[in-house]
Amino acid sequence: MVDSSSDPRPSEQFRHLYTPPKINGSFTGKHIITVEQFDHRDLQTIFDVSARLRDRVTAHDRDLVNLCAGKLMASLFFEASTRTDMSFQAAMRRLGGSVVTASNGVQFSSVYKGENLADTVRAAGCYADVIVMRHSAIGSSYQAAYYIDRLNERIVTHGAVISGGDGIGEHPSQALLDLFTLVDLKKGADNLTITLVGDLLYGRTVHSLAKLVALYGVTNTKLCFVSPASLRMPDTIIDFLTKHNITHYETTDLYEVLGESDVIYWTRVQEERFARRADYEAVRDNFIMTPEVLNQAKRDVILMHPLPRKNEMGTPADHDILDANPRAVYFQQMENGMFVRMALLAKVLGVSDADLL
Ligand code: NCD
Repeated sequence: MVDSSSDPRPSEQFRHLYTPPKINGSFTGKHIITVEQFDHRDLQTIFDVSARLRDRVTAHDRDLVNLCAGKLMASLFFEASTRTDMSFQAAMRRLGGSVVTASNGVQFSSVYKGENLADTVRAAGCYADVIVMRHSAIGSSYQAAYYIDRLNERIVTHGAVISGGDGIGEHPSQALLDLFTLVDLKKGADNLTITLVGDLLYGRTVHSLAKLVALYGVTNTKLCFVSPASLRMPDTIIDFLTKHNITHYETTDLYEVLGESDVIYWTRVQEERFARRADYEAVRDNFIMTPEVLNQAKRDVILMHPLPRKNEMGTPADHDILDANPRAVYFQQMENGMFVRMALLAKVLGVSDADLL
């Protein structure tokens, strides 16, 4: 299941080769590789633009297609994706831009012939203004940014890389949409208990989200991490939270924190990341969200999930009951993904705030 490309070691070289720049108020042309590039003001910009774009989509605003007309996005998914890939493509098209992909997916590009990541990314960089990329190797988005910066010195198209997830590393655009949804529905991020449950070791969404809560800046908010002992949140994330003075608590017992949680972020055990199947099977069923479990949470809790879901949300019959519960917000979260990605694409492609807000 874990292949050599998810060995973290090669990526470490590239993390040193490429340092993602802080956004610091200016998104245009920047690679989006890690949530650590954002501060509160940048997040507020993305959230304001996302909310405005949501209103404009709701109002069927025909001028939206002028925002990125003539711009081209390459979609380069070396790993499976439904929502991230489709929502980025939908976002680009709603803004009037176009999308190129390798026909029938990257597995039928020259990757099939054995071409490496660098040359595949360079090809996209020669054609597109923005490259959305997902790859199973942690640090692969750092590598892509590094290659593209070297390439941009020699060609006229200056592509920016947006990470759609780098193995067990990060998933920055997912964290943006998760925090946007949370802030939107909870009217801010202060005075909350936010509980992340499931595979906190291999789940990249929770790595990015935990850090992004810290970077957004919160008062009187606590992060709770519930996982099997073998799937704890990595120490690098815990250290990051400590450094940012974010109160956090780790447990293997959901019921210790379920009743006090205002936000529950449920996650899938990342089957594809385990080296040994037995290790996956040992933890697969530790935390299963069912209607009965949700009923023990606060009345105004919101239940989030990045999806896809498997048995960590019970049976299809459980899904139906959960889906009908107003506390389950994962479909709003999913739709918000498109608005947030519209905002991110527009900002990276240099659309002015006057046109966006
Ligand atoms: C997640 C991912 O790919 O990291 N999905 C997503 O992008 N919405 C979560 C997962 O695969 O479990």
